[in-house]
Amino acid sequence: MPGTCVIGLQWGDEAKGKLVDLLTSRFEIVVRYQGGANAGHTVVVGDKTYKLHHVPSGILTPTVMNVVTPGVVINPPTILKEIESLTSQGVAVGKNMLLSDRAHVVFPWHIEEDKLLNVAPAGESIGTTLRGIGPCYRDKVGRAHAIRLGDMLRPDFKSRIEHIVLAKNRLLTGLSGADHVALDAGAIFAEYSGYAEKLRPFVGDTTAYLLDAAEAGKRMLFEGAQGSLLDIDHGTFPYVTSSNSSGVGVSGGSGVPGKWIQKVLGVCKAYSTRVGGGPFPTEQDNPTGEKIRQIGREYGTTTGRPRRCGWFDAVAVRYTTRLSGVDCLAVMMMDVLSHLPEVQICTAYDLDGQRTTRFPSHVDDLRRVQPIYETLPGWNIDVTGIRELAAMPENARRYLNRVSELVGKPVEVVSVGPDRAQTMFAGKVGLVG
Ligand code: IMP
Repeated sequence: MPGTCVIGLQWGDEAKGKLVDLLTSRFEIVVRYQGGANAGHTVVVGDKTYKLHHVPSGILTPTVMNVVTPGVVINPPTILKEIESLTSQGVAVGKNMLLSDRAHVVFPWHIEEDKLLNVAPAGESIGTTLRGIGPCYRDKVGRAHAIRLGDMLRPDFKSRIEHIVLAKNRLLTGLSGADHVALDAGAIFAEYSGYAEKLRPFVGDTTAYLLDAAEAGKRMLFEGAQGSLLDIDHGTFPYVTSSNSSGVGVSGGSGVPGKWIQKVLGVCKAYSTRVGGGPFPTEQDNPTGEKIRQIGREYGTTTGRPRRCGWFDAVAVRYTTRLSGVDCLAVMMMDVLSHLPEVQICTAYDLDGQRTTRFPSHVDDLRRVQPIYETLPGWNIDVTGIRELAAMPENARRYLNRVSELVGKPVEVVSVGPDRAQTMFAGKVGLVG
């Protein structure tokens, strides 16, 4: 069976892009299956930093085919900028990328809606990335006002825009009050038909392509965006993204049945972060959290927002490990915890006086839990230059063993810095390819 998945186990930003880039040379195809320009994958190769939003991280490996499937929502000007930026950095983008004609397109009205709806009537707002992701997925499910990439290349594209803009102007006026500037259908059509022409060479039927590839035994790597706790159905709803960002989304988003997926690599940080609103039981809104933020440069790739930081939550990660069908763990950013005198791991929650290791299904319960911590000694050694797991300080190994024990899966990859070279493999990673 040819498929391996890399899935984030927390609230996104687990450094999946780095891992995918590292593993890519073992695969023939890299697949993005959900999310859109809300994702930000940073990949550092030597002295070059690449920031990717839609384009799979496999683009940095010349032999690999990169596929963006129907589950992804595509923002044309953003993906075109990404292609331009990659090209200007010497990365070839051409026949090595295929975009699904079924993928839905983010339009300016989606971004307007996102801005207008990102205000909570009471309590915390979701704090979206304001990239129009939720409104685009909403129109996909609603169908009447949706446009897919393939539709942009059809003769009725103009009349579809006109029809939708009429309704969207009424909607946006209603949402914003009188101050809404009307969308101009003619101008949007002119702009977006220009994008469509530029994207045309990349557009095709990715479902057929991937099914052929799976049947031919081609090695495929599925690259998750965001993290499992942001999954629309299984995450901390409503403080989630609008797609299935856990392992359960792979088949739905890509069109590749689960029977072709052999291995799931779950990626987590050695601590936790979250951007935007929503409960975060192990958050350290204090000098320790600030120290982690500074050392880990925990600011959003897409929005630049400071990320909320906290201790590793084994209750949450055990839940998402099971949900995403994870076989083994990659623990990233171990270097960030160096120099802390001691480190904490949340091993259970106290919910209304009851100890539990079950992750609550409702955010109101998750808000009330009190994390139960185990304290471990820190390692107080710069680990960024270490290249073998056996050479890691004893306390760091102890920490990793405890994470593995609590989550219930082996740690097979450990990362100690952003560069490709700062990654150690336990030697057991039985990845296809
Ligand atoms: P949206 O995906 O823009 O609708 O945002 C919904 C929630 O998901 C917000 O809390 C965002 O901060 C979060 N989110 C979306 N994409 C990412 C990501 O790539 N990393 C981390 N958080 C994300």
